[in-house]
Amino acid sequence: MTNQLEGKIAIVTGGSQGIGRAIAECMVNSGAKVIVGDKKPIENSNLCWHLLDVTDETSVKDFINYTTNNHGSISILVNNAGIMTNSALIDQSVDEWDKVMAVNLRGPFLMAKHTVPLMDTFQSPVIINIGSIEGISGNPNHSAYMASKAGVHGLTASMAIDLGPKGIRVNAIAPGWIETDLNQGYLNDLPNQETAKKELVKLHPIGHIGKPSDIGNTAVWLASAQSRFVTGQVIRVEGGRMSQLSLPSIFNREH
Ligand SMILES: NC(=O)c1ccc[n+]([C@@H]2O[C@H](COP(=O)([O-])OP(=O)(O)OC[C@H]3O[C@@H](n4cnc5c(N)ncnc54)[C@H](O)[C@@H]3O)[C@@H](O)[C@H]2O)c1
Repeated sequence: MTNQLEGKIAIVTGGSQGIGRAIAECMVNSGAKVIVGDKKPIENSNLCWHLLDVTDETSVKDFINYTTNNHGSISILVNNAGIMTNSALIDQSVDEWDKVMAVNLRGPFLMAKHTVPLMDTFQSPVIINIGSIEGISGNPNHSAYMASKAGVHGLTASMAIDLGPKGIRVNAIAPGWIETDLNQGYLNDLPNQETAKKELVKLHPIGHIGKPSDIGNTAVWLASAQSRFVTGQVIRVEGGRMSQLSLPSIFNREH
């Protein structure tokens, strides 16, 4: 337990599970009071939870009013809620495209739009958007997801420009492969999950895939005074995966 975020009120969207939950737990362990906003309730946790659908402006306003009225002025906003879909471009339905954009991109916009006016500028407020390495380079059949995450990175730069003069720092974290339900869905569809996992690990110079707390700890740093000169950045937390060029499997790095 550290006290880097002592006295801060943080909201974490999509914090009922996975990366968002780890961010919330890491922030609590650093002294913040955290309110999780999610469509689904949080289970087996002492974290404070309130209903939130980030796609719906009324729900966003209700959540932010609830938080400020019951807990005080928000100084950390973490836009983490996100969904992923797989569709070949020509099979991608407009409804599914719009849904991905609504959660992944409209959500952070709405949350920032309604939180910023209530942020206490004396508290050195911060916004942290969870983007993705897929906002930089990606996988087949991910047009909506990749476009939405590239959008999150662009939104981060734009917010940093507009909100810097108000003393609000804005950064994005671009996670690589993190062990969560969202990614497990990929592995579940494969015939040989163990082989897939071994090959996956080989893509990472660091020698392992990530845990939700790897993102949580980065978020704590970005929310703390230790990163006071950092804004407008997309911080890749991906075990070096994008630093390494892929090679045909015939090339074995042991040789
Ligand atoms: N897991 C990874 O490897 C990985 C990699 C890169 C980026 N990300 C990003 O990290 C974030 C979290 O991913 P995760 O793996 O923890 O996902 P997850 O599916 O495990 O959790 C997502 C959470 O968001 C909530 N949510 C979904 N729609 C919502 C809405 N409209 N309003 C409020 N809450 C909503 C869900 O109920 C869930 O609790 C996402 O933005 C994702 O794109 C994840």
